Amino acid sequence: MGDNDTTCGSEVPTHVAIIMDGNGRWALSRGLPRLAGHRAGTENLRRIIRACVEFGVKYLTIYAFSTENWGRPREEIEGLMHILEDVIDKELNELNKEGVQLRHIGRLERLAPKIQEKVLDAIALTKNNQRLVLNVAFNYGGRDEIICGIQKMIKEGVKPEEVNEHLVDRYLFTAGVPHPDLIIRTSGELRISNFLIWQAAYSEWYVTPTYWPDFNKEEFRKALEAYTKRDRRFGGLSATVADNPSHA
Ligand code: FPP
Repeated sequence: MGDNDTTCGSEVPTHVAIIMDGNGRWALSRGLPRLAGHRAGTENLRRIIRACVEFGVKYLTIYAFSTENWGRPREEIEGLMHILEDVIDKELNELNKEGVQLRHIGRLERLAPKIQEKVLDAIALTKNNQRLVLNVAFNYGGRDEIICGIQKMIKEGVKPEEVNEHLVDRYLFTAGVPHPDLIIRTSGELRISNFLIWQAAYSEWYVTPTYWPDFNKEEFRKALEAYTKRDRRFGGLSATVADNPSHA
């Protein structure tokens, strides 16, 4: 199927989350510095955002910087901060025109005040857009998100008997966003890496050996098609099995 093909099966996942892994190895395999891999990954992100709009995905969550990524060399951390700023400076108008609503998940506090301001301005500018919600996980960790939620509940005086799954959902950075239907991890690693650890309880996974900069629209379409073939049971029985126990 060509690059202009806009079909991708009948059941498009509402929310796709992506661990964009393999930028470093992509660069290394070309004798380039790691940051060149992150820049190539950013180019690819632009293509995948367009593909989401085209295929009708409503929520895209991307893992751009984890709470553990602070352990990387200073040059790489600064490079990733610069990429975030650059994406906002150069892509925001286009994203806004395309109907993309930007959101951030994670803690903004540790970022430079200038970057925090840009992120907040971008969120405010795009808040009414409806075509695609793009959640950027930046200085995000799933455990940190849960800790943050618990602290907030305690501060607000939530009573133990009031705590249930719906309430926890409301105290996470992703409040109001449906749980991911499909999580894609590029570069072949079989780990959750502290990404959406609460929200991923019943997500479908798609892992590909392709490095993120090479994970193009065609590969994305394949991932969405693989998803349409999954039988999501959420711990129960599929409709076929529930209706006819001989299928169990
Ligand atoms: C993982 O690959 C990737 C990251 C830690 C950063 C991902 C960031 C981008 C693609 C840039 C887009 C960012 C924004 C803010 C929009 P890795 O470096 O761990 O790769 P490796 O496992 O091969 O070393």
